[in-house]
Amino acid sequence: MLARSAVRLHALSAKRALGSRLASTKTLKETLQEVIPAKQEQLKKLKTEHSQTVIGDVKVENVIGGMRGLKSMLWEASVLDPNEGIRFHGMTIPDCQEKLPAAPGGKEIIAESMLWLLMTGKVPTEAETRQLSQELAEKGDLPAYVENLIDSLSPSLHPMTQLGIGVAALNHDSVFQKAYERGMKKTEYWTYALEDSLTLIARLPALAARIYRNIYKPGNELPAIDKSLDLVGNYTNLLGYGANKDLTEYLRLYISIHGDHEGGNASAHTAHLVSSTLADPYLSYSAALFALAGPLHGLANQEVLRWQLAMQKELGDNITHDHIKEYLWKTLKSGQVVPGYGHGVLRKSDPRFIALQEFCDSRPDLLASSTIQLVKKTFEVAPGVLTEHGKTKNPWPNVDAASGCVLYHYGLTEFKYYTVIFGVSRALGALTQVVWARALGLPLERPKSLSMDALQQLIKV
Ligand SMILES: CC(C)(COP(=O)(O)OP(=O)(O)OC[C@H]1O[C@@H](n2cnc3c(N)ncnc32)[C@H](O)[C@@H]1OP(=O)(O)O)[C@@H](O)C(=O)NCCC(=O)NCCS
Repeated sequence: MLARSAVRLHALSAKRALGSRLASTKTLKETLQEVIPAKQEQLKKLKTEHSQTVIGDVKVENVIGGMRGLKSMLWEASVLDPNEGIRFHGMTIPDCQEKLPAAPGGKEIIAESMLWLLMTGKVPTEAETRQLSQELAEKGDLPAYVENLIDSLSPSLHPMTQLGIGVAALNHDSVFQKAYERGMKKTEYWTYALEDSLTLIARLPALAARIYRNIYKPGNELPAIDKSLDLVGNYTNLLGYGANKDLTEYLRLYISIHGDHEGGNASAHTAHLVSSTLADPYLSYSAALFALAGPLHGLANQEVLRWQLAMQKELGDNITHDHIKEYLWKTLKSGQVVPGYGHGVLRKSDPRFIALQEFCDSRPDLLASSTIQLVKKTFEVAPGVLTEHGKTKNPWPNVDAASGCVLYHYGLTEFKYYTVIFGVSRALGALTQVVWARALGLPLERPKSLSMDALQQLIKV
């Protein structure tokens, strides 16, 4: 009784503290309103003064090689350097870890502070971050029609397929679509795109957790969204792991640093392409999720774990470096890729992999875990084997070499679900660009394709 009233008193004072900070705090939309004009001006100047400036050549290898390296897309929130890795508005992952607000009582970056940075290019204050958390929590409930739709799906349908279906169906409530039908002005596009994007980000935890519950824990009650928690705090709670503070902190870090990886990756690019047709943010991000579901992209975190568990099963305990080497060669000789290694752009170890490794190094239970130790041991030999194999341009690990194994250690062992967590994360960056593309009035994407005969003709010229 005493404990319960103490909890209530604490909740009340926390609410008051939040309330008093909120009164003088700008919203994300107001901050965007301030930063958009300068960017519009910058784009106008680029168009008028430099439209015809040449910034690179198009080679045949770009056309037949999946457009690798072709500089042909505008993306504001982050830029990927092949050697240094990702920078969010110029900030590295360690910069973000130092400057972006964490959850109350936590240490790791949270999705809200990363989203604020991605959207506005500014580091949010503590109060701005808490206010955004509250805004998202208030929008976080799923409409009943989506709950019913998700509950009607077969539990054998892959969780990523279910996520894509759920996100597409949320477009039933799209304010962007309704405003477009009413004939909104072009200058208003971004405001509706923002509203939809925030609602979608807010609803992703409830949607993703419902899919998890239906497939893996049928019959379990789903808790209500806790209005005092951050997005990932709620997500972990809904998944049923809220009591595990380390897992919650891990997911906060993972979801934040995985939120954007510039624009050319398949899922981000898909969201950008689809939204350039003025499809609403729900449809755009739903399409992105189906790109993310491919094994060369988001599904890799599931594949890493499958690969590693198969190795453990075959080799038993006490796996040595030589055993891993042999297993790597076996994988390569059978024509498969080594999941978690290589990258379309990166040419060094992924700083996101390093950040996750540092998280593991700071926790004795993770250091002692055989799954995490195997990740480390594999990292010690795989780059050498892949270099000797001689095919991949980047023998170093990407983020997925570590991400799933930590989840597995903490008891979230259903690895078919891992890409869904990636899908919750990538919404931050992909939807930021959807908002900016509308604010900048970017046009419908329409690259020129060529047949091989047309290419031959061009070569002759
Ligand atoms: C990420 C990935 C798709 C990038 O592909 P890419 O840009 O074509 O990479 P490269 O230019 O280095 O590929 C050159 C060759 O090396 C191979 N290669 C690349 N990474 C490899 C790996 N991890 N294991 C084995 N072979 C690999 C490619 O399959 C390709 O072979 P091919 O010429 O027979 O088609 C690729 O590295 C890969 O498949 N990695 C494993 C899956 C993964 O971890 N994905 C998550 C990415 S974040």
